[in-house]
Amino acid sequence: MNAPQKVSEAVAAPVGILAELTHRCPLACPYCSNPVELDAREGELDTETWKRVFSEAAAVGVLHAHLSGGEPASRRDLVDIVKHCHDVGLYTNLITSGVGISEARMRELADAGLDHVQLSIQDAEAQSADRIGGYKGGFARKMDVAKWVNEVGIPLTVNAVIHRANIARAGRMVEFAVELGARRVEIAHTQYYAWAYLNRKALMPSREQVEKAVAEVEAMRKTYAGKIVIDHVAPDYYARYPKACMGGWAKRTLNVTPHGKALPCHAAETIPGLEFWNVREHSISDIWFNAPAFNAFRGDDWMLEPCRSCPRKHQDYGGCRCQAMALTGDPRNADPICHLSPHHDKVAAIAATFEEVDANVPATDYVYRTLKTQAPVA
Ligand code: SF4
Ligand code: FES
Repeated sequence: MNAPQKVSEAVAAPVGILAELTHRCPLACPYCSNPVELDAREGELDTETWKRVFSEAAAVGVLHAHLSGGEPASRRDLVDIVKHCHDVGLYTNLITSGVGISEARMRELADAGLDHVQLSIQDAEAQSADRIGGYKGGFARKMDVAKWVNEVGIPLTVNAVIHRANIARAGRMVEFAVELGARRVEIAHTQYYAWAYLNRKALMPSREQVEKAVAEVEAMRKTYAGKIVIDHVAPDYYARYPKACMGGWAKRTLNVTPHGKALPCHAAETIPGLEFWNVREHSISDIWFNAPAFNAFRGDDWMLEPCRSCPRKHQDYGGCRCQAMALTGDPRNADPICHLSPHHDKVAAIAATFEEVDANVPATDYVYRTLKTQAPVA
């Protein structure tokens, strides 16, 4: 894929950096958005390199550091990294399963300047949650962690990914987040990339289930107005226009993988032919402004019709490049979610698969990712 490198607009500084500190994780969620080929522990960036990366990010204008994984608490230097981010003026957001955070460590993180915690939950019921995450006792641990986060006075967001095994409790998860003391809850329907794609037969709910869950969560907005903010990411297969994925390609944020590869979005490596630079060899500023992968879809010179002459092209930027790649084979195409795309029928075909969910595949028949292997195990 030879995307044009000419950028026809001034490039603004990034707002956020998502640091995948490690792909190691004690949980094994079957919808994990990390690549099926995980980065091994050997080869992870060391503490000093991560500190340099965050210093460079702050210097170029980044405001928010999202510390993610895998499970970021699997890194022994997490407190040290948080402290450094705080010292260079970054707002720090820890995205965690909660496993690996003791009460003492939570206090250390708070003392180091941690600003916000995003805690994932797998379900609102212990048995189901532990089965989905592949980790016995995980549910109880999360309740402890939520309590400790509240005790140290750090704002809490609860994240829940919705699929066939928990969709009946989509609304209950909003209530559960309120009970955990969260100020914000994100209810996101599974996006079928990476591990979720491998497990899609067991994960996909029926269309009827999706519609019921979406209505239930929307109704909660009224019930809990003023108590909790609800971010609801509904499946976009029925939408007329796509979302501005990532707020536009390389416009606001960048990702850095455990081995130091800088990506414009978490799925960017699914687009063949892009040249990614590594933070070991390039500064964040150099990567942001000059890395070929970052410049590949900036501006609008790369766009094809119908986006090229569309009045919405600076509103949604043609949608998601990775989805355009996955469904049409060319990342320059309009995201086929758009009803103006000549490939829109492919989205209708996916929506139809929600009607054909195979009830004979149990909603727990998952291929789990494991700590020991880098490849899926049956
Ligand atoms: Fe967006 Fe392209 Fe559709 Fe226009 S044609 S609405 S720019 S995806
Ligand atoms: Fe890569 Fe949307 S996920 S641009």
